[in-house]
Amino acid sequence: MAQDKKWRIGFSQATTIEPWRAQFNKDIIAEAAKHPEVELIVTDGEDKTEKQVADVENLIRQEVNALLISPKESAGLTGVVQQAIDAKIPVFVLDRNVETDQYTQFVGGDNKLIGRAAGEYAVELLGGKGKAQGNVVEIWGGMGTQPAHDRHDGFHEFTDKEPGIKQLLDQQSGDWKQDQAYNIMATALRNNEKIDLVYGHNDPMAYGAYLAAKDAGREKDIKFIGIDALPGEGVTWVNNGELTATFLYATPGAEGLRQALKFLNGEKVEKTVTLDTMKVTKENAGQIMKDNGL
Ligand code: FRU
Repeated sequence: MAQDKKWRIGFSQATTIEPWRAQFNKDIIAEAAKHPEVELIVTDGEDKTEKQVADVENLIRQEVNALLISPKESAGLTGVVQQAIDAKIPVFVLDRNVETDQYTQFVGGDNKLIGRAAGEYAVELLGGKGKAQGNVVEIWGGMGTQPAHDRHDGFHEFTDKEPGIKQLLDQQSGDWKQDQAYNIMATALRNNEKIDLVYGHNDPMAYGAYLAAKDAGREKDIKFIGIDALPGEGVTWVNNGELTATFLYATPGAEGLRQALKFLNGEKVEKTVTLDTMKVTKENAGQIMKDNGL
């Protein structure tokens, strides 16, 4: 470690093939650059649990002063997170949780709340409380992840109260990927004459479903809701009128690193830091793009 680098911080990322994760890495690297005393080691799990487990084992061996991890899935990464905790390394879990709460801190969005906001808006789009009517396609993120379950549960708190809303699919996962969502939607379109609304657990999947509907000439009949709101992706798609809405899921990159430093410098940190969300529709999409230089 270079002399002036006081803290060696390891960050185990689940994958970098998804745009939201690429932004997440940019955010954490930019934050680290503001702190000359930090040496940040970033690893890429390549969307494979075994690879991410090996990455974390490696970071433990390198005796990092803190471990930040955004797990691909909960169950498969819990063991290695526990190993780090047992090795007395402070662990900061980012975005997707694991099956222990012995870590130092969790930083991420409130997926239940985001799911609720999406559900409430879906009800409004389909005719309003007590009157909503329509067939809904929900495309799940990775089944082994907490965000997918929370986004599902929150949404259903609203839509399940509406007798006029029918859910067409039973737990179909697109694993957060646009191409998988495209295929799920293409099949749903073939099997259902009427689809009114698609809820994708992230923007790439909502957009994949939109593209499938467009290829079937049916995109105008359907509303598409996603989550993430990256300016160059979801927000742009909303601004183009392709998605109806998206909900901000800020990356915990910068905040995660700041929190880890705060802890390393001897300050107390909260057990959970929740990042804010907001609804993005045609009304504010253009402004958000402008604010981000687009
Ligand atoms: C990227 C991603 C995001 C999503 C988050 C959930 O891998 O799928 O699109 O919001 O993970 O953990």
